[in-house]
Amino acid sequence: MKNHILFLFLLLPIPIFAQNPVYKNGMVVSAHPIASEIGTDILKKGGNAVDAAVAVQFALSVVLPIAGNIGGGGFLVYRGADGTYAALDYREKAPGAATETMYLDQNGNPVNHMSLFGQLAAGVPGTVDGMVKAHEKYGKLSWKELLQPAVDLAENGFPVTEAQAREFTFSHSTFQKWNPEGTSFTIKKEWKKGDILVQKELSRTLKIIQKKGRNGFYKGKIASLIVDEMKTGNGIISLEDLKNYQSVWRTPVTGEYKDYTIISMPPPSSGGIALISLLHSVEGFPLNEWGFQSDSTVQIMVEAERRVYADRAEHLGDPDFYNVPQEALIRKENSLKRMMPFSFDRATPSSEISASTFSPKEKEETTHYSIVDKDGNAVSVTTTLNGGFGSFVVVKGAGFILNNEMDDFSVKPGSPNMYGLVGGKANAIGPGKRMLSSMTPTILEKNGKLFMVVRTPGGSTIITSVFQTILNVVEFDKTIQEAVAAPRFHHQWLPDEVLMDKTSFSDSVRDILTQRGYKLTERTPWGRVDAILIKEDGSLEGGADPRGDDHVSGF
Ligand code: DON
Repeated sequence: MKNHILFLFLLLPIPIFAQNPVYKNGMVVSAHPIASEIGTDILKKGGNAVDAAVAVQFALSVVLPIAGNIGGGGFLVYRGADGTYAALDYREKAPGAATETMYLDQNGNPVNHMSLFGQLAAGVPGTVDGMVKAHEKYGKLSWKELLQPAVDLAENGFPVTEAQAREFTFSHSTFQKWNPEGTSFTIKKEWKKGDILVQKELSRTLKIIQKKGRNGFYKGKIASLIVDEMKTGNGIISLEDLKNYQSVWRTPVTGEYKDYTIISMPPPSSGGIALISLLHSVEGFPLNEWGFQSDSTVQIMVEAERRVYADRAEHLGDPDFYNVPQEALIRKENSLKRMMPFSFDRATPSSEISASTFSPKEKEETTHYSIVDKDGNAVSVTTTLNGGFGSFVVVKGAGFILNNEMDDFSVKPGSPNMYGLVGGKANAIGPGKRMLSSMTPTILEKNGKLFMVVRTPGGSTIITSVFQTILNVVEFDKTIQEAVAAPRFHHQWLPDEVLMDKTSFSDSVRDILTQRGYKLTERTPWGRVDAILIKEDGSLEGGADPRGDDHVSGF
């Protein structure tokens, strides 16, 4: 079944390289053309970047059922035109009845797929509360107006893309298994491009949220439907869990790389800290001189990734439950020291790398879409159900899919999750705790001015994809479209291998890396990166990953 989820990402169109779209007044890049256009319409109507983000989040819950959601969660990073920053954590939480051993059998071993499929795999959804909080703090247009496009799309339907037709056809039996009474996605067995997906129940749910806001989801009819759904399986989300769910404003994690300031998501995402540590680790090396995917460049980046992911496994978890040594992890001297000893002659085996140790004092220091509006406010969002179509459970009577985010916890110390990531105490399951994430919605400034907005899905590869996209622009002089489309690679400490795109590395670089002890493994799929670059004259250049249906829209 893990393969099933990965296979869903293989169902992607052939890359087509389009010209870089450039706009002056506002831009939205998202994973679906309809959602991007809805965001741009909101900007045209005078809405700001957060208004557009809210409208896009709800639109994606309709037109991108594989990941867009109201039954999942996410993170939003904001930079106001006035230079202020904010980060909103609307990550799911473990239900109150969750326990550290809930996915283990009597011998203490993880039960296959228990954290991946069905009602028990779901965390308490955070999206609706997150959108309400974002809108309350920054929104200009009315909540009703922002939800209307999603309501209409669910009610009247929309034509599915070729990739979506393949995803629905491929997932038919899994949806049927978890929803024997049928869903909007299973009314056909074989989907074709252009077939219309109508979601009447979802439309009714969205109308309730449109009318009642937070209470429309976390209390009353929809909350009861979620709890009823739990009872049809072995789920544990209660009315109390829903009533108590709150998204949280956190201080973004920031760091410097040359002339650039990185503004990203703090814990419970590992993304911001890991991204900043990666950039710090490579800052002292002449990447630009060595060139894009030269042997030395790849070695330095892989060795940095190996070390940073070892720290991720040990030190990162929900900061409300675990003391994350954030300051130490993003201190430049620590990253530089950590790269040593290092030799170009041979790969450092992961068995020789363990997590950094920090002095007790340091330990006490306690942390998809891109939008820019006409005033220069910027938003980067990553939102997810976790695996493609999450837990595959569609809440009966409410028409939305529940996440399988519980798998992002470390269900047993050292036991890999769906993405092969390992963890321990910091990311152990606990009631009300948030599972560690790799999502890395990020904004960059160059010399104090807004420079780039970037984000991607892709599980554990999110952090390294954002890392590479940034370096592609700032070190390897690629346009933003070239940067998001470029072949990628990834190392995450364990397993000790370099995953790479089919077209990554020349033959001679592959030979050199193999001789030096790197295990190279070709892999698809990769996360679809979306990004916006703000040019010197203030115009906006969009990059939408050709690996997916991603789309740049603007005016
Ligand atoms: O939070 C995380 O790190 C994962 N749940 C993200 C999932 C994801 O990116 C799905 N897309 N491929």
